[in-house]
Amino acid sequence: MNASSKVIIAIDGPAASGKGTLARRLAAHLGLRYLDTGSLYRAIGLTVLKAGQDPTNEAQALAAAKILNLDAFSAEELRSEVAGVAASHVAFLKPVRAELLDFQRKFAEEPGPDVKGAILDGRDIGTVVCKDTADVKIFVEASLETRIQRRIKELQDRGESFKERHVQADMEARDKRDRDRSVAPLKPADDAWLLDTSTLNADEAFAVALAHIQETGTL
Ligand code: CDP
Repeated sequence: MNASSKVIIAIDGPAASGKGTLARRLAAHLGLRYLDTGSLYRAIGLTVLKAGQDPTNEAQALAAAKILNLDAFSAEELRSEVAGVAASHVAFLKPVRAELLDFQRKFAEEPGPDVKGAILDGRDIGTVVCKDTADVKIFVEASLETRIQRRIKELQDRGESFKERHVQADMEARDKRDRDRSVAPLKPADDAWLLDTSTLNADEAFAVALAHIQETGTL
């Protein structure tokens, strides 16, 4: 557990499970600093692509990780499908993940004086990044069909063009890469609380998660 008086909440789960929306809302409600760790991998993936390089190339991806600059990309660029796919390729590489560990841990353990703590979302926050420091671990799930429909709605809302079968294929391929990789695979931590949002809207998922956090007595 976390030795300081600050709180650390870890939220993990697969693509479009609702973890980002949930984490953002919990952070605002509870006065916690929020880090979307997927955006780190997305920025590295985009940096590699913009240099005309290959996100599966370890040396090229590691070089991009070392010069990571989140401000180099707009929120739209970071959220694009292209960025998501590139992210899952660079995230597969052990040295890239190792390069990001210190930054993520420092964010979690030293979130700053004006907040009660930190909330991080990703794939390996409860199992690796904050394995021994998180006060609460939540693993957010949803059925594949629900997640595909959510991603399609997200793309429609942003006006991004897409083909439904490509969204499904990309998500299945990304799920497989995330779950099967040898380093920090996507899986619930042994001490994680599972939240299936398949039949819950964002308000309901928020209410259930908040009730769980309050029950743990953490905040
Ligand atoms: O929003 P969505 O769940 O689609 O994606 P994301 O959370 O932004 O993550 C994009 C990709 O980065 C994932 O498919 C993972 O391969 C990778 N990632 C990771 O490996 N570890 C993390 N802590 C966060 C993201």
